[in-house]
Amino acid sequence: MFRLAAWAVVVLAAVGASPGGRVENVLEEPSGRAENILEAPRADQCTGFANSLRFDCYPEDDASEEKCQNRGCCWRSPDTSSTASERVALNIPYCFYPQNYGGYKFLNISDAAFGKTAYLQRGTKSYIPNDISIIRIDAKFESQSRLHVRIYDPSKERWIPPLPEMPQVDTKATNTDYDFVIEESKIGFKVSRKDDSEVLFNTQDLGGLIYADQFIQMSTLLPTNYIYGLGEHRAHFPLSTTWQRFTTWNRDIAPSEYTNLYGTHPFYLAMETSGKSHGVLMFNSNGMDVLLQPTPALTYRTVGGIIDLYFFLGPSPSDVVKQYTELVGRPFLPPYWGLGFHLCRYGYKTLTETKAAMSRTQQAGIPLDTMWNDLDYMKDQNDFTYDTSTFAGLPEFVDQLHTDGMHYIPLIDPGISASEASGTYPPYDRGVELGVFVKDSAGKPFLGKVWNPQSTAFPDFTNPKALDYWKEMLTTMYKLFKFDGAWIDMNEPANFLDGSTTGCDKNSLNSPPYTPAVAGGALISRTLCMDAQQHMGKHYDVHNMYGFTETIVTATVLSEIRQKRPFVISRSTFIGHGHYSGHWSGDISSSWSDMAWTIPELLSMSVFGVSLMGADICGFNGGASATLCQRWMELGAFYPFSRNHNTKDVNAQDPASFGTEVAESSRKALLTRYSLLPYLYTLLWAAHAEGSTVVTPLFFEFPSDKDSYAVDTAFMWGSGLLIVPVLTEGSTEVTVYLPKAQWYSFYTGALLSPGGANTTLSAPLDTIPLLVRGGAVLPMQTPATTTTAARKNKFGLMVAADPSGAATGSLYWDDGDTLGTYEQGAYNLITFTLRDSQLTGTPTHTGYTGESMVLGNITVLGVSSASSVSVNGASAPFTFDSSNKVLKMDSLSVSLTDAFTIKWS
Ligand code: GLC
Repeated sequence: MFRLAAWAVVVLAAVGASPGGRVENVLEEPSGRAENILEAPRADQCTGFANSLRFDCYPEDDASEEKCQNRGCCWRSPDTSSTASERVALNIPYCFYPQNYGGYKFLNISDAAFGKTAYLQRGTKSYIPNDISIIRIDAKFESQSRLHVRIYDPSKERWIPPLPEMPQVDTKATNTDYDFVIEESKIGFKVSRKDDSEVLFNTQDLGGLIYADQFIQMSTLLPTNYIYGLGEHRAHFPLSTTWQRFTTWNRDIAPSEYTNLYGTHPFYLAMETSGKSHGVLMFNSNGMDVLLQPTPALTYRTVGGIIDLYFFLGPSPSDVVKQYTELVGRPFLPPYWGLGFHLCRYGYKTLTETKAAMSRTQQAGIPLDTMWNDLDYMKDQNDFTYDTSTFAGLPEFVDQLHTDGMHYIPLIDPGISASEASGTYPPYDRGVELGVFVKDSAGKPFLGKVWNPQSTAFPDFTNPKALDYWKEMLTTMYKLFKFDGAWIDMNEPANFLDGSTTGCDKNSLNSPPYTPAVAGGALISRTLCMDAQQHMGKHYDVHNMYGFTETIVTATVLSEIRQKRPFVISRSTFIGHGHYSGHWSGDISSSWSDMAWTIPELLSMSVFGVSLMGADICGFNGGASATLCQRWMELGAFYPFSRNHNTKDVNAQDPASFGTEVAESSRKALLTRYSLLPYLYTLLWAAHAEGSTVVTPLFFEFPSDKDSYAVDTAFMWGSGLLIVPVLTEGSTEVTVYLPKAQWYSFYTGALLSPGGANTTLSAPLDTIPLLVRGGAVLPMQTPATTTTAARKNKFGLMVAADPSGAATGSLYWDDGDTLGTYEQGAYNLITFTLRDSQLTGTPTHTGYTGESMVLGNITVLGVSSASSVSVNGASAPFTFDSSNKVLKMDSLSVSLTDAFTIKWS
């Protein structure tokens, strides 16, 4: 179960906070742009800098020598005597911080009960208005593997995101894996790994440390160029450190490279030269740029809040993710039906069209669990209504889905129509009555315009009353038709206007001294005004948490209404999102390159602890071709959240609409998915219970193999299955780097070459290459066309021997829908061990007493010979394929909730 109680406590605590939140020290000047003019540096302060050691002092677009020198910085063209590759990088700054750039000096450094503490004082002003003259550093040694470094204004409370709720640790861990170094002679601090002295973070005397009210900047050296994370962005999985800027500011925009997208995750994972790994979270919700440069080095530049860094020492990359989700929230366990295939589109204009897409899918024998409707079902695109003429019969349709063991999910936008006749639209009237809408600077409901006919008000999900309000609205809709989950969209929050229907006031929030490199050039672009007021604070501070707070409220309310596990998919996300819900990658295009980009996105979200992740299969914008959709259906069958979705006014792209070939390939891929759902579900449980990853980057399993660090065209499920999709049109083979291991074909069981090299796999048009890794036991189940039907079938095991002939795995099973089954012990957990030609099954927990769990078949890969098989001592039928070395037992009937032993010789 998730942290509902903790969340409620946080929100209620915030009730006591002063209205308008915690940004009292923001000076509301007409415009915050005026800069202080500083003295130009001396020439000798500007010499001796390698290009890569230049830290950008003028990140805005209008740099000039004069403006640069007015900031007290050096203006030089890049050094062309250095290497050719450096010469071509366009973003080497001309304007950079000089040596001994005036700034802070230590007042004192001392030991504290939690670690170390220090005070710094600013000597000279920075070019930004409202420097904070005294800042304090607290280094909290929170645990052996976690260090927390907070740099803040000791005299005034500044904005710190209240969610996700972070633990307050005031005792000092001994035996830490890190050293924290702070010295009076050098401004800043260093973090190093104790056992090999690798310096992980080093801000000492670097760049320009600025700590002003609306601009905080700090740079650090990094130990490696292998950096992952810093989302949400479209980028390769290993991020480019060639002067690359990653801006976080939640935004409704079709994904492209180099722009801020829907979510904010200022967390990175780094692979050190030793193969060890660490992670760093900058816990800050304000608009932010993070720069990576080839030094390697990183600069944070945020426009509010504080510097609040958490270091996770790993040492393996999966340890880092576990340590991260332990702090921000482990992924939630979705209902089992949510792992089935979902079908959706914008532009099923009627219920009849919805039904037609569904039945052609079913007639083609393609597994399908959940039907979705977009805006189309609503009356006038207004939430909590349905169009009783075009969608007449919707309640009965949903009831029929339930009878057939299927489910239904509608779109819900946060924006509420503000222009319906008074008394005719309770969602608006009740919202006003309860005072739950985001307020403008004058205290009235803030009005923008989204899909609604004329104007839109935005529920403030940070207001505790929003919980009651949202529950009332969803309950009313639930009385109309019995939906099973919520697709929450446009919650960045998106707005078709820049600010309100009357614009935004000119002040330092709407127009701060520094604007991160956001799409549209202004924080207010396609969203609310920054001085809009929310219960927790100004929109300026809480903007990036809008979707996250909506997600928490929606998941809470859904679980209360349905008394079952909530299934929520949200477009906007924030640190800790995966604890409550899943995510899809928004409005991508129907193109081969966009399909390929979904893999690094999937991998990055896994690093952020968002397990239930997917992308619109066959692409959203634009029409998909049959060949693209065929390959995309094959890939999408392995997204944890597997949904085909499409925009309106383009060709249909549900898998059956392209004819038999695409339908057959889709059926094959999805039946394979359904056969592997017990494995996927077990991985989701392990993520929930222990923080392991579901979609797993290849290098997580092979951290000492550097050749695996850049692979982002393939991904694993857990540690046992490698998925290698075809990403180019017309190809019938695909090449991937395979680290050294036993890799078996999932389909034939044949052992491939031993890895350690690029390997080409055959991929006929109807087949996505899948490889099973030696050492894994994959729990499976005979598939069906719904998860409800499949759950009644017999289980199977695919057992892949490692070089020593061993393998291990497990199966987690519960009723798939009840809240808190794991926490309450209402589950079965069975572990499997292969050793010395003997497979044992051991129920380590038996708390689920639903349908009986019968093992019907086992396939063992990598068996050198087999002439007899016994099951619990009695001989049993089998087949042995001596060329592929595959042993199969197909007609078993073994209870999985009792210990069993299967032997062969
Ligand atoms: C947004 C969503 C998209 C949806 C559309 C209409 O663009 O990202 O998935 O279809 O709105 O509701």
